[in-house]
Amino acid sequence: MNPLTDSLTSRWRAEFPGLERSVYMNTCSLGQLSRRSMDGMQRFQEQWLSYGASAWYELWLGEMADARARFARLINARPNEIAILPSVGVALSVIGSSLDFSARPEVVVTEMDFPTIPYQWMARGEEGAQLRLLASPDRVQVPLESFDQAIGPRTGLVATTHVFFTSGWVQDIAAISALAHEAGALCLVDGYQAAGQIPVDVKAADVDVYISGGLKWLLGGPGIVFMYVKEELIPQLHPTTTGWFAAKDMFKFNPERFEMAEDARRFEPGTPAVAAVYAANAGLSIVEEIGPEAIRARTAALDADLIRRLRSAGLQPRIPADMTRHAGIVMLPVDDPPAAVKALKERGIIIDYRPGSLRLSPYFYNTEAENQLLVDGIGEVLYG
Ligand SMILES: Cc1ncc(COP(=O)(O)O)c(C=O)c1O
Repeated sequence: MNPLTDSLTSRWRAEFPGLERSVYMNTCSLGQLSRRSMDGMQRFQEQWLSYGASAWYELWLGEMADARARFARLINARPNEIAILPSVGVALSVIGSSLDFSARPEVVVTEMDFPTIPYQWMARGEEGAQLRLLASPDRVQVPLESFDQAIGPRTGLVATTHVFFTSGWVQDIAAISALAHEAGALCLVDGYQAAGQIPVDVKAADVDVYISGGLKWLLGGPGIVFMYVKEELIPQLHPTTTGWFAAKDMFKFNPERFEMAEDARRFEPGTPAVAAVYAANAGLSIVEEIGPEAIRARTAALDADLIRRLRSAGLQPRIPADMTRHAGIVMLPVDDPPAAVKALKERGIIIDYRPGSLRLSPYFYNTEAENQLLVDGIGEVLYG
């Protein structure tokens, strides 16, 4: 056990009061609520009470700019490359509405991607989009060769994931993006399970679009996602799913002329959920303060510890052989996952499941002792 990273946990635990209420091992579904996010949302309410609508101009647009800048710093982007949207589904719809599928109809995705990714292109079948779904041989990863074989002159977009939500596998997004670009296609990455818990550098990976959000490892709660669009690409995309926030001079309220913003605001369709911006900005500030490298080190240590304890108890988690390619999500195949999740909840242990498996996800604020409570709890509910 590394004493330095352990002190990270003890330093931050009190920031998350929910950790007193349960053994919480479900950050891959929903990150813990911090005191900082609670304060942020409280501040938002006070501003709403005392400023009314002027809070927009005096405070709230500034808070949005601040959140964009924070997310930009986290992924090595510029603030003008970041749009704020309510969900990945909406972000994909906006990007999807700006693509022309006539010359290059194929969108390459994998069966390990979160379903909202393939759904988007299935829904655009009538516009000409054709889904190319890559299989996973082991339900952990998708070989790079599969991307290589599938991507070609008919590919318009490769839309896939940084960290898979049912295996924790870290894809080599730089290599995937290089394959897409060689073929003349764009590369979009869903980083919802990555940003915050592992370092992300969109410039080094050279992806075109990178999406992540508050819900999980960024500790910001629901209602907000951040979408990076590479600066050079922004002027080439003209979304038809749009609104007044996308206008260059939105406060001119000109109904006769729609000139789109030159920065990534052109992908923002309308008024955001401001409370979510406050919660997310506070969560981001914690991630920034600790730093993704330190978070990654501590979370990886906890993952390794959990896997060891599971195996010692005779359990067999489904995780990749190469742990350097694994991040934060430990899958444990069991017969009846919903029943086990329910029984564990009754014992004060919060996890979730996906078809066929329990999904366990310690984060930097968890402890080795909690890992053991989790393993003991699983042993009890599975074997009595
Ligand atoms: C990888 C991944 N992408 C996307 C989402 C959510 O998408 P949306 O914001 O559209 O609900 C999740 C989980 O909720 C996820 O795990």
